[in-house]
Amino acid sequence: MDEPDWRRFITAYHQAHPGITEQLFALADTSPYAWLAEPLRGIEGTVLDLACGSAPTRDELPDADWIGIDLSAAELAEAARLGRGPLVRAGADALPAASASVRAVCAAMCLPVVTPLPRVLGEIRRVLRPGGTLTALVPSQSGLSPSGMLGWLRVMAALRAVRQPWPNPRARDGLAALLRTAGFRVRADERRVFALAIDSAEAAALLADALYLPGLTHHRAEAAKRSLARWAASGRRLELPLRRVVADLPTGQPPSREQT
Ligand SMILES: C[S@@+](CC[C@H](N)C(=O)[O-])C[C@H]1O[C@@H](n2cnc3c(N)ncnc32)[C@H](O)[C@@H]1O
Repeated sequence: MDEPDWRRFITAYHQAHPGITEQLFALADTSPYAWLAEPLRGIEGTVLDLACGSAPTRDELPDADWIGIDLSAAELAEAARLGRGPLVRAGADALPAASASVRAVCAAMCLPVVTPLPRVLGEIRRVLRPGGTLTALVPSQSGLSPSGMLGWLRVMAALRAVRQPWPNPRARDGLAALLRTAGFRVRADERRVFALAIDSAEAAALLADALYLPGLTHHRAEAAKRSLARWAASGRRLELPLRRVVADLPTGQPPSREQT
């Protein structure tokens, strides 16, 4: 899928499913957003939530000078409906912030899907002030137990999907290396396995909708939901490995806008 096609897909997807990542994560045993926000608690200065979606990190950082940006009008409307803000509609590749003006950037579940990634990383570097922090949450492909792997095989078989064709696959387990190459100093790169409760037909349907599968037809999605609803059961858990990377912008580095 080329970049214009991906942009069309992601725009239509979030228009149809605003807040879906937050809804999926509400099935988790503990909040991935709380984990992501941990390194940012109590810091002084502006925190920019990149591709904030429905802005779940807003509630995790109630005292922060927080601002959320996202490209999707529907996601931002959902964030506003939940009383979260301030919000700005903008692309991650052209951030509406002055150079070296931001203390921290928070990036929840967005770096594998925002395009073009080199320019997005350049923009993060440009807006962060020297010594500023980036904290990012991304899916991880490792860490599943054998039964966790079977669970995902069951889900992907129902969806007739082999993989999620995201534009920046390296921005998952390879994120720390990408950030180092982009000039960041990586402070922490950790994986944690969460557990999603797939205990009802509603939870199964949410899971089927939440997986970002561009080739998924309506007919196939409905069949998958019926299949996964039969699999859903009280006590059913689906492992969800996530990675949190915390990186700083070294002091003494001039802000620059990276082009692709
Ligand atoms: C998986 S969702 C994550 C939303 C939110 N951060 C969360 O964790 O709940 C990805 C978000 O990226 C946004 N997005 C995708 N491409 C973007 C871009 N180029 N610039 C800004 N936002 C973008 C989508 O609209 C969507 O809200």
